[in-house]
Amino acid sequence: MTLRFVLDPDLTPELREQIIALWVDVTNAGGAVGFVAPVTEADVRPMAAATFAAIADGPDRLLAAYEGDRLAGVLIIGDNRFHLKAHWRVLKRVMVHPGTQGRGYGAALMREAERIARELGLAALHVTVRDGLGLCGFYERLGYREVGRLPGALRLAPGDDRDEVFMWLDLGAPVA
Ligand SMILES: CC(C)(COP(=O)(O)OP(=O)(O)OC[C@H]1O[C@@H](n2cnc3c(N)ncnc32)[C@H](O)[C@@H]1OP(=O)(O)O)[C@@H](O)C(=O)NCCC(=O)NCCS
Repeated sequence: MTLRFVLDPDLTPELREQIIALWVDVTNAGGAVGFVAPVTEADVRPMAAATFAAIADGPDRLLAAYEGDRLAGVLIIGDNRFHLKAHWRVLKRVMVHPGTQGRGYGAALMREAERIARELGLAALHVTVRDGLGLCGFYERLGYREVGRLPGALRLAPGDDRDEVFMWLDLGAPVA
């Protein structure tokens, strides 16, 4: 099935609940979106509320992907809130529902974000990645390159520190 993308969907109470449920399911399936499994909706809700406020009131933007009427994935196009960094954005909370992962949806979602970024005239996109899950490979396939890492910056549990990897897509280069 093909995906349908919606940029800046109306953040209705229903959509907010769908995103929270997605966030919980993705985390509990081992995803690296700000939490460590296991989590409940109550764990995710405060961070989700702050995330929704930054979208509803600006300056962040939400990109949603639908498979039919079902929310299949989301990402946030994060504004840097700093005038010297107004020419690029950070993609955050890139997630696809565990039941539909591995079908090309994540790549399609990222490519749509790239298309939007080019349309906005942005110079680059940035993603921060939790090391140790093979996620850098996902971004590298999409043209992102590692530009640095903070060693052991993410403490998932005592004795389980992971590098935070900085990935970068230069939009100045022509589309491949
Ligand atoms: C990461 C994620 C968004 C990828 O979405 P997806 O729909 O499963 O990925 P796709 O099917 O589009 O895969 C695209 C390519 O990336 C590869 N890929 C996907 N996930 C990967 C992973 N974790 N590690 C390495 N490669 C991966 C696929 O094999 C595929 O390669 P191919 O084009 O050579 O076949 C999704 O798995 C997810 O939501 N993960 C949990 C949340 C998360 O950790 N997000 C990352 C935040 S930094």
